[in-house]
Amino acid sequence: MKYREMTAEQRKAEFEKVSAEFEAWKAKGLKLNMARGRPGKEQLDLVSDILSVMTDPADCVDGDVNVRNYGQLSGLPSAKALFAEILGCKPEQVFVGGNASLQLMYDTIAKAYTNGLLHSEKPWCREEHIKWLCPAPGYDRHFKVTESFGFELITIPMTETGPNMDLVEQLVKDPAVKGMWNVPKYSNPDGIIYSDETIERIARLKPAAPDFLLMWDNAYCIHEFEGEFVPFPDILSLCEKYGNADMVFEFASTSKITLPGAGVACFACSEANMEYMEKLINVQIISYDKINQLRHVKYLKDKAHTLELMKKHAAIMGPKFKAVTETLAREVGPLGLATWHDPKGGYFVSVNTLPGLAKRTLALCKEAGVIMTSAGATFPYGVDPKDSNIRVAPSLPPVEELQQAMEVFCCCLKLAALEQLK
Ligand SMILES: Cc1ncc(COP(=O)(O)O)c(C=O)c1O
Repeated sequence: MKYREMTAEQRKAEFEKVSAEFEAWKAKGLKLNMARGRPGKEQLDLVSDILSVMTDPADCVDGDVNVRNYGQLSGLPSAKALFAEILGCKPEQVFVGGNASLQLMYDTIAKAYTNGLLHSEKPWCREEHIKWLCPAPGYDRHFKVTESFGFELITIPMTETGPNMDLVEQLVKDPAVKGMWNVPKYSNPDGIIYSDETIERIARLKPAAPDFLLMWDNAYCIHEFEGEFVPFPDILSLCEKYGNADMVFEFASTSKITLPGAGVACFACSEANMEYMEKLINVQIISYDKINQLRHVKYLKDKAHTLELMKKHAAIMGPKFKAVTETLAREVGPLGLATWHDPKGGYFVSVNTLPGLAKRTLALCKEAGVIMTSAGATFPYGVDPKDSNIRVAPSLPPVEELQQAMEVFCCCLKLAALEQLK
C-alpha cells in the first residue's frame, strides 16, 4: 500500500516498524560506500595482465617509434587507431593524452578561457558573461569544471531521449551561451542513451556563438552490462554534415575498461581543431605517457577484443545492478516513494524520490554507515530544486555488501517519507 493512502494509524505503526529496522541497521556498525563510480576489486583483477604486457625494453617499440622517448604529442598512431575504431571516427581526428579524460575536458575549456577556440573572437576570459548548458541530472565533475571558470550554469532537464532539445535550441540563440555538457550514452547518472533524433538535433544546432563548444563525453561508449554492444553515431561526422565540424570535442578513456587513474584518455575533434589544439598543448607538455598508450594497445588490441573484455566486466556489474533495481522494486516500489531508471549500461542507477526526501534519506544512510553521492550533486551548483535525485553507484561493493547497503537505503527512504508525512 502506498504511504499516502495509509490512515494515520497505519502510518504510525509503519513508522514504529521502520524506525526499529533503522536502529537495528545502525547497531550493525556498517561501513559501506556507494558514493563514486569506482570499479570493484574483481574488475581490477580482471585486467591484471596489463601490468605485464611490457616487461622488456624491446617491447617498447611501436613501428618506428621508441615509446620510451619524447615525441608524438598527439599520441601513438596505434593508440589513435584503437580509439578511432571504438568511437567510429578517423585516427587523425584522435588526440591520445594522459590518464584522465576529465583533465582533457578541463584543459579544452581552460584553453578556450586563456586563448580562445578556433572560431573565438577573443579568449573567453575577456567575455563579460558566459553561460553553459548542463543537462541534469548530470555528472557533478562536469558542472564543477564550468563553475570553476565562473560560467553561469543553466539546467536543461533530461528526458528519456536526452536533454530537452526544444529548450537547447532556444537557448543557443543567445551568444553568451558558449557550450554544453553531454554524456550521450548511458548518461551519468540516468543511464539514458540519447536518441538518434536528439543527436541529429544537437549536431545541427545553429548557436549564435561562433565558438560554441559541444562537450561530448562518451565515457560509457562500450560499457554495456546487459545485452549486446549498442552502436552509436559518430558525432564528428554528423556535426560535419551540418556544417558544424569544429563545434564538437568528443572524449573517452579506458578508466572503466582497464584501470581508473592508470588508463589512457583521448579527445577527438576536426582536423582543423586538432592543428589548433596541438599548437596550444605543445606549450604545456612535450609528450604524454606513450609507454602506457602502447601497453593499452598491446592489451586491448582492437574494438572486438575490447568488447570481449567488456563482457567480462558486464558479468561482474550485471548482478550488482540487478541487486539495486530488484531491492528498490521490492522495498520501495509498491510504496510509491520513488522511481528509477533501469539502465543496461554505464555505472549508475538514478533514483528520483518524492520531492524533499533526498537529503534526509542520505543523512539517515550516513548515520547507518552507508555513504552515497551527496544529494544535489547531480545538479548545477549542487542544488537539486526538488531535493529528489539520488545517484546510486553499485560498482565498488561486492554483491552481498551492496545488497545490505540497498536494504539500508530503502529503510532510510521509507523513514524519511514517514517523517515527512507525519
Ligand atoms: C561521465 C564521466 N566522464 C568522465 C569520467 C572520468 O573519466 P576519466 O577517468 O577518464 O577522467 C567519469 C567518471 O566517473 C564519468 O562518469
